[in-house]
Amino acid sequence: MGKPKAESFAESFIVAVDGPAASGKGTIATRLGEALDLPVLDTGLLYRAVGVLTAEAGGHMDDEGAAAAAAVMLTAEQLDDPKLRTRAAGELASRVAVHPRVRAALLDFQHTFARQEGGAILDGRDIGTIICPEAPVKLYVTARPEVRAERRWKQLTAQGEAVSYEDVLTDIRRRDARDGGRDAAPMKPAPDAVLLDTSEMTIEQAADAARRIVEAARARWEASQEAS
Ligand code: CDP
Repeated sequence: MGKPKAESFAESFIVAVDGPAASGKGTIATRLGEALDLPVLDTGLLYRAVGVLTAEAGGHMDDEGAAAAAAVMLTAEQLDDPKLRTRAAGELASRVAVHPRVRAALLDFQHTFARQEGGAILDGRDIGTIICPEAPVKLYVTARPEVRAERRWKQLTAQGEAVSYEDVLTDIRRRDARDGGRDAAPMKPAPDAVLLDTSEMTIEQAADAARRIVEAARARWEASQEAS
């Protein structure tokens, strides 16, 4: 997806926000974008779109070639579709995300977004480990599965989906196991990531904690840029 641009990483203040499903990373990334005036890419939407497009083309999620073909054809405009936010799309996403060729096809788009002038925020599973290991600040946002299931259940219910809390919890546990257990870019904190457990926090508290960490990192990063 997308065309690579030859730009330097060194100029970009990149914020990597990783973590499991419904940990709060998307909201944290959005709030950070507002506070720091940086563009935000929800990389989960890329995998959601590939899953949905593969299904619409009649492909099977286990067919790496079919999913990779969808990934190569993906355009940024397709990421605005509200159906990407559904429970079904999340499940399809995690099934196509296991394929190395799908991940490879989405790499250039993420790099180009990350390297834009001024910097960028990307949220996902492998931003700090694989996509932008050079990012000067990395957050790994977690919460207990029960807390995440409650949040996701409220979100899906507000979107009009009829689903039980128990089914959402089952989804979350299955997705954690698949995302963390796969060979290609498994979900895990980068060694230099700051862990943020939001289980006992409101979203305001979590967003404030993230902003403090990232603002401190930006001050250090700016000082190091001036010194070099
Ligand atoms: O919003 P939620 O956390 O439920 O999911 P998402 O961030 O939209 O990601 C959906 C799925 O895409 C995840 O379960 C992963 O399998 C996959 N994904 C990934 O492999 N790598 C990323 N950088 C982002 C998402």
